[in-house]
Formats: sequence, structure tokens, C-alpha cells
Amino acid sequence: MQIAPSVLAADFTRLGEEIRRVSAADYLHLDIMDGHFVPNISYGPGVVAALRPLTDLPFDVHLMLEHPLQYIPDFIKAGADLITFHVECSDPIAETIEAIHQGGAKAGLVVKPGTPAEALWPWLEQLDMVLVMTVEPGFGGQSFMEPMLQKVQQIKEKAPNLPVEVDGGVNRSTIEACAQAGVDICVAGTGVFRAEDAEKALRELQSF
Ligand code: DX5
Ligand code: ZN
Repeated sequence: MQIAPSVLAADFTRLGEEIRRVSAADYLHLDIMDGHFVPNISYGPGVVAALRPLTDLPFDVHLMLEHPLQYIPDFIKAGADLITFHVECSDPIAETIEAIHQGGAKAGLVVKPGTPAEALWPWLEQLDMVLVMTVEPGFGGQSFMEPMLQKVQQIKEKAPNLPVEVDGGVNRSTIEACAQAGVDICVAGTGVFRAEDAEKALRELQSF
């Protein structure tokens, strides 16, 4: 399993050291929240740009923004390799995917728990990956919603070669079900950064 540790669960007073602890990961997951699309505010492109020279890991930037389109150039400039945004946002989806591709990054669409997988169907051919939320977006440390894995199976049936990522509540006890459902990448915040030994927790999750 490919693992994308979520910086949201890291110690913000020493982000540089935290990121070095997960240098064996497959991606670094960066959660961007605007206080509108989700009831929380995290950090912006300035923090992403500051972290960019500290690691070679590909940056997986998850935009929980009502209006992602206007910020795409900022996150590309900050070093995003992959940008995901929500199908429930208020911007035109095709145009936003296009802006990400024009900037040279990969594009993914995200579905919240209440949104069916079918909402993704019109854009599958333009996408480089999809992200299925396994918690309500906004906060780390929530419980994994196992029924969301049915969406993963639906997506895999429809587009077998499209990588699928899940985000929220992934840890040692929930990752096995993700692997069985065909998930390619798991985001893990609490499960990595709040573990006693983050490097060991990461290796363990990658072994599934
Ligand atoms: C939630 C974020 C997640 C979060 C996951 O809105 O999108 O990426 O950091 O955290 P854990 O792994 O603690 O559920
Ligand atoms: Zn996320």
C-alpha cells in the first residue's frame, strides 16, 4: 500500500523534523481548508512552499475549498505534484482540472461521504486519480467509515486503471479493508504522526 502521511496531524511547531520522519513515505498529504467548504482553517500555499525544499516526496495537495480554481497557480508554484479538489465545490470542474494540468500537475477529484461515486463519472477520463473521503472532511482523528469502500469498488469497476486514494481514519486496524477493496493510496495522519514511532507505523502501513 502506498501511504501519504497527512501533515495536519504533525507537530506544527517543528514541521521540518516531522517531515524528515516520514521520508520513506510515498507522498506527503497537505490539507488545505478555507473555513467555508469545511468548518476548519488549516494553512495555505506559503506553508506548502516552505516545506518544498525539505523533502523529495511528491506533494499531494487536498483542497477543501469552496473556490479552488483561483488558487491553483499558487499551489502549483508552491510545489504541488498532485492537486485534488472536491466535486461538491462551487467552481467549474472541467476548467479546474484543466488549470491543474496546464500548471503541469496531476489532477484528482474528491467525494465527501454523502456524495455517490456516480458524481465522478463525467470527469473520469480527465482525471489522474480519485480520492474517496472515509470521514467528513475538516478534521483529523475521526473514525473510519467502512461503507465508503463500496465506492472504491464501484470506481475500480468503472475505471480499473485509475488510482484511488482514501482519506480519514486509516490506521493499523482499518487498512486491511482498504487493501481488500483495491485502494492504491491511503492518507494517514493520526495513524502515522501520533504513533509512538512514526517511522515504524509508516512501514507497517506500507506492508499491507
Ligand atoms: C480531513 C483530512 C485528512 C486528515 C486525516 O479533512 O482531509 O487528510 O488529515 O487525518 P486522520 O488520518 O487522522 O483521519
Ligand atoms: Zn486530506
